[in-house]
Amino acid sequence: MSNLKQASPKSAVDTHVGGPIAVPSTPANLERMISQRASSIDASGIRRVFDLAAKLSDPINFSIGQPDFDVPDIIKERAINAIREGKNRYTPTQGIAELINPIKQQVADATGWKNPGVLILSGTSGGIMLAMFAVLDPGDEVLFLDPYFVMYKHLPRLIGAVPVAVDSYPDFRLHPERIEAAITPRSKMLVLCSPNNPTGMALTPAELQAAADIARKHNLLVLSDEIYDAFCYQKHESIASLLPDQCIQLKGYSKTYAMTGWRLGYAAGPAVIIEQMSKLQQYTFVCAPSPAQYGAIELLHHGGVDMTPQIDAYRRKRDRIVAGLGGKFEINPPQGAFYVFPKVPGNQTASEFARRGVEQNLLIIPGNVFSSRDTHFRISYATSDVKIDAGIDVLLKLADSATV
Ligand SMILES: Cc1ncc(COP(=O)(O)O)c(C=O)c1O
Repeated sequence: MSNLKQASPKSAVDTHVGGPIAVPSTPANLERMISQRASSIDASGIRRVFDLAAKLSDPINFSIGQPDFDVPDIIKERAINAIREGKNRYTPTQGIAELINPIKQQVADATGWKNPGVLILSGTSGGIMLAMFAVLDPGDEVLFLDPYFVMYKHLPRLIGAVPVAVDSYPDFRLHPERIEAAITPRSKMLVLCSPNNPTGMALTPAELQAAADIARKHNLLVLSDEIYDAFCYQKHESIASLLPDQCIQLKGYSKTYAMTGWRLGYAAGPAVIIEQMSKLQQYTFVCAPSPAQYGAIELLHHGGVDMTPQIDAYRRKRDRIVAGLGGKFEINPPQGAFYVFPKVPGNQTASEFARRGVEQNLLIIPGNVFSSRDTHFRISYATSDVKIDAGIDVLLKLADSATV
């Protein structure tokens, strides 16, 4: 029997007699409408920094989580042609075959998985949400390292699941014994993010093996967020090949090809879970944007699009900022993504330090946006070398005044 509650015909008629009823909509009345789910989570702290940025003129903006280069022309051309050719309609929920089939092959070649399930996503974010909704029940626990990408904390809460942040300070490495200590009978998922936002750390083969062993021992599903895989200044390693039947691998186009606004990514994993994610996509995102999917076909043919020059430039930017700040800040040199997560010198909080940065026209993100601690701050070096040098100057001055 359907559990959909039907409005009685009587009430439907009553409410519409004489046209729509004018409901007084005072702010207090609207506030009461907000669900407990929505009220239980904060607006993203990063958004608050963006609001601040809007008030500054030409700031040194170290807060941006997206590349400063543009989408390669050849991908744009493909997408524009697709729009002109009328490929503007819904696609199959799971994505267009021209994308899914080659991706399946790529995943199988890279991981050794046999016939993986693949779902084309409306951004990697869409995949994080769908994977969590597909496997988590209220009360289930999701483990991830602190500092963390903000969605890992908030999305479980929307489901009534419990986010469990496992401390990774001061080196931001994966400490297997800390994960073990956080596991309970309700633990169901372990989220890994490598290279990491906000720390830039990339997990080593030994760390991945340790995580895979824990996942097997405790029957955890690993959600492996690899959106920064191209921005790895050493060989990118994935846990996927170690856990063929217990891992959802998420990859995205937002960062590698600067397509953040196009909303495209994919999930690969055991067909039985990917099918559930696909079913949920039907009722939420419906499908990934059609022109973006057709544009991305370009990436799967003729050897794809070479992003080496852009990645090499980011490696040099990383070296520039680490060298520029290293004398005055405690930094774990990052191996990937485009972030550095230095410690605030002296005794002030990162929020206070970031506020002082704003006074100098500099935007950084305080660590408490990504962490239970407010001791570090995130720099995105996805900006020009001129801005990087100007930001280093400001930070060195702020560090001097913090330690006198
Ligand atoms: C670690 C991580 N995962 C996922 C995302 C979301 O990416 P997308 O644009 O593919 O939704 C981001 C974006 O900043 C991120 O940093």
